[in-house]
Amino acid sequence: MWFFGKTWFYNRMCTSKARLDGKTVIITGASDGLGKETARDLYARGARVILACRNMEKTNEAVKDIKNNPPSWVEKNGNANNVGELAIYFLNLCSLKSVRDCAKNLLTNEAAIHILINNAGVALHPYEKTEDGIETTFQVNYLGHYLLTILLLPKMQASSINCRIINVSSFTYVVGDIDFDDIHLERSYQSYKYYASWKSYVQSKLANILFTKELASRLKEANIHGINVYAVHPGVINTEITRHGNSFVHTSYAILSQLCGKNLVQGAQTIIYCAIDEGISNETGLYYSNCNISNTYRKANNREYAKRLWNMSCRLLQLEPDENITAFLKTVSHQIL
Ligand SMILES: NC(=O)c1ccc[n+]([C@@H]2O[C@H](COP(=O)([O-])OP(=O)(O)OC[C@H]3O[C@@H](n4cnc5c(N)ncnc54)[C@H](OP(=O)(O)O)[C@@H]3O)[C@@H](O)[C@H]2O)c1
Repeated sequence: MWFFGKTWFYNRMCTSKARLDGKTVIITGASDGLGKETARDLYARGARVILACRNMEKTNEAVKDIKNNPPSWVEKNGNANNVGELAIYFLNLCSLKSVRDCAKNLLTNEAAIHILINNAGVALHPYEKTEDGIETTFQVNYLGHYLLTILLLPKMQASSINCRIINVSSFTYVVGDIDFDDIHLERSYQSYKYYASWKSYVQSKLANILFTKELASRLKEANIHGINVYAVHPGVINTEITRHGNSFVHTSYAILSQLCGKNLVQGAQTIIYCAIDEGISNETGLYYSNCNISNTYRKANNREYAKRLWNMSCRLLQLEPDENITAFLKTVSHQIL
């Protein structure tokens, strides 16, 4: 296991030398873990990186850390002064009002948006509903990002003919299912609460992939080119993602990631790859792991399922679903902003 964890093919790095001068990147949940590591890399490539986060104190610390500790490749390339900008926007995905406010602020203040990285996430969260009446993990990991994305899409479309949206998922999606009859998992929770918090995580991670594919399909069907959508499994990395689990889960995950997982820099590579690699600029609607396309299985390949999830998301957000994405985006922007 240790051997596999350290071999190059298991931990493929993003080798792109692309610079992002003049590009604006939004990363949700960039105060910590993979989001912060991705921000560090993209800032060093010259991007204006927006950290969309809920904890301002922690995010200010993250900004200092990113500025003071560039990625190791910067020194080798000798371009330590060629960095971009860092900005913070408040975003709490537990609140749909906060998502709308964040989108409004971004649309008002930013001249362009080129890359959106939907990274923030929680796992094994205690059963709870948000102020919007939606199960927390489903809203933070998926539904809040769905809303943010559709609100920012028109601006992205106007920004450039080469924009990207990256949805950070997880290989655990494979055991996930979308419980359309009990989307808030009330029944599961009543039967077994630990199982319900796991079920809600894998449900949300499957939703990230279904959303990636469905959005890519709808954009293609509307002849909208130049906005590519990617889903990513980053690997198994010892971050704070297990903070809501008990100490046994937390410790076991830390050991597992030491034995056969990745460190933070390695874990961020597939996210960075999908955000910048020139070789995949014609790919959309696919799922990536280890800086490579990876197959998806089971429910993740079912278009009807993806459509059902899209429609259910609209219902939960009280939006009128419209098969025509151009009309849909226009209505949503009028209705919500
Ligand atoms: N680590 C892994 O092994 C692994 C494996 C597969 C997939 N992933 C995925 O990778 C992504 C990043 O996770 P990570 O491992 O880097 O975990 P992490 O270190 O816990 O970082 C999660 C980030 O999400 C933010 N966040 C949580 N709830 C939020 C909310 N309501 N509103 C706004 N931001 C919120 C956190 O902010 P606060 O600090 O304010 O809580 C933090 O910045 C997640 O989507 C996760 O599912 C991770």
